[in-house]
Amino acid sequence: MASGQEPRRIVLVGFMGCGKSTVGAALAARLGWGFRDLDRWIEERHGMTVAEIFRRRGEAFFREEERRAARAAARLRRCVVAAGGGAFAFEATRETLRAGALTVWLRCPESALWRRLPRDGSRPLAADRGRMRRLLGEREPSYRLADLAVDSSRAAPDEVARRIAEAAFERAPRARRTTKKR
Ligand code: S3P
Repeated sequence: MASGQEPRRIVLVGFMGCGKSTVGAALAARLGWGFRDLDRWIEERHGMTVAEIFRRRGEAFFREEERRAARAAARLRRCVVAAGGGAFAFEATRETLRAGALTVWLRCPESALWRRLPRDGSRPLAADRGRMRRLLGEREPSYRLADLAVDSSRAAPDEVARRIAEAAFERAPRARRTTKKR
């Protein structure tokens, strides 16, 4: 996104467990914007959890649905979007997510991600640490394509949200006036 322009959306990307959903909800509340979680949108459309979709329909089907979810989110204005951890690694989905949006990578070291991830089968691609580490290495170059990177490993979600709001509206001074004060 060109700097100085007001973003229509703020899209949070980053690996599973980096806090996209919690930080996203906190950021939306702070800005008085809407919030869309792409995984939840897909789950609601299919009446199945993401893990069930992977199991019953396979990953390729899920990625198609993820692309569709990104296209639907691209119509939203004044909305914070939490993308799934793989979304930005697929070029077509990434380009859809980037259009008109400020994209933010929630960066988190591997050890913190591993600590945070629930071992309940809800993240089929992070079932073991070796696989998770490999995937993280493969995906980091795509996360680096985001407009901003914010460390989400130490601060509370609300503080991470505050930093994003500050950075986002520093880049777009006109938009700052529409930010809710807390
Ligand atoms: C995935 C991340 C998950 C979910 C699916 C695939 C991935 O989202 O989209 O399990 O490929 O990294 P979260 O990052 O919200 O856990």
